[in-house]
Amino acid sequence: RPPRVFVTRRLPGDALDRLAARAALRVWPDALPPPRDTLLAEAREADGLITLLTDRVDEDLLAQAPHLRAVSNVAVGHDNIDVAACTARRIPVGNTPGVLTETTADFAFALLMGLARRVAEADAYVRAGHWRTWDPSLLLGTDLHGATLGLVGLGAIGVAVARRARGFGMRVLYVSRRARPDLEAALGLVRVDKGRLLTESDFISLHVPLNEGTRHWLGRAEFAAMKPGALLVNTSRGQVVDQAALVDALASGHLGGAALDVTDPEPLPLDSPLLRLPRVLLAPHIASASHTTRGRMASMAVDNLLAALEGRRPPHCVNPELFA
Ligand code: GLV
Ligand code: GLV
Repeated sequence: RPPRVFVTRRLPGDALDRLAARAALRVWPDALPPPRDTLLAEAREADGLITLLTDRVDEDLLAQAPHLRAVSNVAVGHDNIDVAACTARRIPVGNTPGVLTETTADFAFALLMGLARRVAEADAYVRAGHWRTWDPSLLLGTDLHGATLGLVGLGAIGVAVARRARGFGMRVLYVSRRARPDLEAALGLVRVDKGRLLTESDFISLHVPLNEGTRHWLGRAEFAAMKPGALLVNTSRGQVVDQAALVDALASGHLGGAALDVTDPEPLPLDSPLLRLPRVLLAPHIASASHTTRGRMASMAVDNLLAALEGRRPPHCVNPELFA
């Protein structure tokens, strides 16, 4: 019989048509994620799952999914999946790196510029009918050129942001577990420790995966150490930031502003202070959302799933030790 595959949402492009030719496919039709009991019920029957970052794949699910042989996440991040638990059950986990790097870096830069030059505030100002005249003091922002950008994490996306920052005349610092002397020479990046990154950066942009080492990487002590008026951009995961500390740093004015594509939780509750604070630019987790890239992510997720179902190593596998 063809393998049974559950897909937790409709995906853009034609990747699922390709999958339908080789698997008995069930696609969750709603705009919102399947409720937990639905996901568990589907997993019970499934040989393969295509999941999004909104779907939790944990030991509880795996213990109820006796046929499961493949999990494929339509994201580069995989913090929604207990990869160790999958590995223990010899289930390969796929993700979608590479295809979204430049698209995500573009959006991180859009947030950086939008926050620095107050683009959303300017738009709201004009629409509200407040625009009376050219005003020398109206909506003054922060220059990118000549400013220092601190990158937290120098994986593929961090590097792509660094390239853009150099093109805009910024000085770029980074913290990373791994030194990248090749990139320091090629792009003029400077590796620093956390303390220097916090005290010297005019902008800080986060590009680390969420794990136990990066959860609340920015907390109260870190915000206090940042330059007064510094600006924060987050396109990684909301939990990399202690959001209560972020709110306080914004409310006190010590932090100059924040541009957030990711929050904790998602979506942000409508009573969140982040929706009322000035100098906060918000987006609904769309950094990889270009037509081309979302199509490629879906296609890569299908390739990863099919490989795992056929016992081959997925082209992009988070637990490749299964195939060692
Ligand atoms: C999106 O956040 C992703 O991890 O791809
Ligand atoms: C602004 O529009 C200027 O001409 O300086």
